[in-house]
Amino acid sequence: MLSQSLRDARTYEETVEKKIADEPRPDFHLCARVGWMNDPNGFSFYKGEYHLFYQYHPYDSHWGPMHWGHAVSEDLLHWKHLPIALAPDRDYDQDGCFSGSALTLADGRHLLMYTGVRKEVQPNGETREVQTQCIATGDGVDYDKYAKNPVLTSADLPEGGSRFDFRDPKIFQKADKTYGCVMGNCTEEKDGQVLLFHSPDGFSWSYERILLSNQKRFGRMWECPDFFSLDGKQVLLVSPQDMLPQELEYDNGNGTVCFIGTYDEETGAFTEEQNQAIDYGIDFYAPQTTLAPDGRRIMVGWMQNWDTSNLHPATKPWFGQMSLPRELSIKNGRLIQRPVRELERLREQKVSCERVTFSDALKLQGIEGRKIDMELSIRPGDEEQLYERFAVRFAQNAACQTSVSFHPATSVLEVDRRLSGSRRAILHKRSCRVRSEKGRLKLRLILDSFSAEIFANDGEQALSVTIDTELSAEGISFFAEGAVAMDVVKYTLCI
Ligand code: FRU
Repeated sequence: MLSQSLRDARTYEETVEKKIADEPRPDFHLCARVGWMNDPNGFSFYKGEYHLFYQYHPYDSHWGPMHWGHAVSEDLLHWKHLPIALAPDRDYDQDGCFSGSALTLADGRHLLMYTGVRKEVQPNGETREVQTQCIATGDGVDYDKYAKNPVLTSADLPEGGSRFDFRDPKIFQKADKTYGCVMGNCTEEKDGQVLLFHSPDGFSWSYERILLSNQKRFGRMWECPDFFSLDGKQVLLVSPQDMLPQELEYDNGNGTVCFIGTYDEETGAFTEEQNQAIDYGIDFYAPQTTLAPDGRRIMVGWMQNWDTSNLHPATKPWFGQMSLPRELSIKNGRLIQRPVRELERLREQKVSCERVTFSDALKLQGIEGRKIDMELSIRPGDEEQLYERFAVRFAQNAACQTSVSFHPATSVLEVDRRLSGSRRAILHKRSCRVRSEKGRLKLRLILDSFSAEIFANDGEQALSVTIDTELSAEGISFFAEGAVAMDVVKYTLCI
């Protein structure tokens, strides 16, 4: 039985969606059907389609009591919205259905596991949000909440684990067909940890161990963990809140960390070997992965930054979009991210220019557009002398531009959206270090209506930023200080 509040929310989103039908939207990035969107949830392949749910507040474009929005796609680029899957309509989730994940049960049902939030008055009189883990099963459209919810509560926490920060279950199936789950948690002192749980059937769950503790290294509470094997290694993704910067690897605020290591399924021990940021841009958080039927591990993140997500009016018709789905791999101990290969099917109108040498501002015939996939290969134009700086500027008109620039002497790549049309005093630049020998660098730039995603050296670094530049700003230009030689291939992306 669908609850009245779920039915109301479904009617609301359908009605309002029609009213805002003419509002500009991204072409191939999933955005909120109406209202507010944050984290990707329940990313899975079910009944022949990819399902992507999301944290959703349909009633205005700011965060509020969380529902699960729902969309499906065959190619991860053309998305179709389905009716809201979950509404906060039970006593145990009355203040929100927070992030979670999905998988297919042996009997063919789609299993969702999510965090139920409920405000409770504490012994000291304070009201706090208590978080528990809940289950719903369904057919890919309608979901029934499990009669025995919640399936994990504060009673299942290890000693010292906070029951106010106990959320974001990511479930997976093990080789022996039983299930595992990683969960975000922190100690009472707010130091992040990932907890591991086990279930024989997906419904009854028990605590296993602390998979990894922060030990005060990366931010505070750890949100939205994910845990999977990849290219012979084991990967743990987390999104720590309140990070402090560390060189050019990690920046202030809520960020993302990828731990690469090994996992002993017998003992449940994860041994961390390396860590790195997942995305080095401004807008990327809470990524979640799924396994495609062909074996690819695909990741989607929320392409936003919590610290800048409250600056728009409540009347904005929609707010929040997902990153491009990215194929993951590991090479030389690093996480590699490439836009899903399905994107290449959208490529049209190829324009290419080879061995262009320049040492000043440059525009190239036919290189422009706001829905593009562009690959650049850069090297010194003068073998004797390394150039000082290279930049590509895009979403450009007389007043606006966003740029990516590279300093070969320091190997620093920087994205700068200060001139993108923003009127807010927020973070507009971010930098990272890339691998570059003698000034050589490969860049791929994907532009959609309100975003730019930059991939350096075939996916060794990804940088995602949202931009609010008017859509008529379609210019692209290049700039060099010192002689740069460049090959360019540009496609228009047609959905
Ligand atoms: C991460 C997060 C999750 C939580 C959800 C609430 O962005 O804070 O930890 O489940 O958003 O919307």
